[in-house]
Amino acid sequence: MIEKINQYLEETKEFVASTIDEIEAFRIKFMGKKGLVNDLFSEFKNVPRENKKDVGQKLNELKVSIQEKINSLKENLEEKSDENSDVDLSLPGDALKTGTRHPISIVRNEIIDIFKRLGFTISEGPEIEDDWHVFSALNFPEEHPARDMQDTFFIEKHPDILLRTHTSSVQVRVMENSQPPIRTISPGRVFRNEAISARAHCIFHQVEGLYIDENVSFADLKQTLLYFAKEMFGEKTEIRLRPSYFPFTEPSAEMDVACNICGGKGCNVCKYTGWLEILGCGMVDPNVLDSCGIDSKKYTGFAFGMGIERITMLKYGVKDLRLYFENDVRFLDQFKSAL
Ligand code: PHE
Repeated sequence: MIEKINQYLEETKEFVASTIDEIEAFRIKFMGKKGLVNDLFSEFKNVPRENKKDVGQKLNELKVSIQEKINSLKENLEEKSDENSDVDLSLPGDALKTGTRHPISIVRNEIIDIFKRLGFTISEGPEIEDDWHVFSALNFPEEHPARDMQDTFFIEKHPDILLRTHTSSVQVRVMENSQPPIRTISPGRVFRNEAISARAHCIFHQVEGLYIDENVSFADLKQTLLYFAKEMFGEKTEIRLRPSYFPFTEPSAEMDVACNICGGKGCNVCKYTGWLEILGCGMVDPNVLDSCGIDSKKYTGFAFGMGIERITMLKYGVKDLRLYFENDVRFLDQFKSAL
């Protein structure tokens, strides 16, 4: 039997193979269930006792040696196939298409940057709010139409819980939780029950601002917003304030910028007025300060709020609001240079 083992040892050590099939045939011949090595193990039973140790060692040596041979044959074959493969590793790769920032994010970040330079902090709050933070604390009378089902999304069976219609609710939270000086902006998503069209959507984005301190005046409001308009639309931009009404500010105003498309001469974007409305603003109503725990005899403040979609439309000449939500890459790709 020792002879047979030695013969196999020699035979297998010399074996060469050039394909995986040859290696497999070799493996089955020697190491398969019905292979030669197993035959030897069956014969091992009949080996006389005194020889069992020597023969056993030799048999194990054979088994290990064949297994190593199979492994090294396989390794060689793999290396060769790498060398011979058709893949040209020096060719340039396929370029990965990179995404772009959404225009709303670009403009939101730009607005945030401008107010950051003026020392405003950023505050955030919940999108699902209660009546107090969206309406009552802001001096909305009980029967104000904005509370109506037509404007506000209420949570079913819970008339006190609703989707915020503006981020002024965040400013109420800031006032309740801190004392002046307060200088903060609140960017965020807001919801109104509007039919979706080119000019209106039920979801949009706002940035609202609040500044409260001693002796804050309407002149501060005007100067801050003029700075913003120039940074956003260019150094030569002119602004115009028109009287308006909001329950939470007194006096209130709406701000227009001179139309940057026609330079104020009049075109179809500004409906031939030469002006584009961009935000609402005013001096915070003393009732609001008192509701939120701020002494209205000591402090005054201003607030403003703008829609990011609208600013983006004016800045980039986007004609249809719905494009922002459709995720059409042909639209989104155009904002690459603005990254
Ligand atoms: N909250 C108002 C809106 O959503 C905007 C606004 C904010 C107006 C602050 C005046 C002062 O339309």
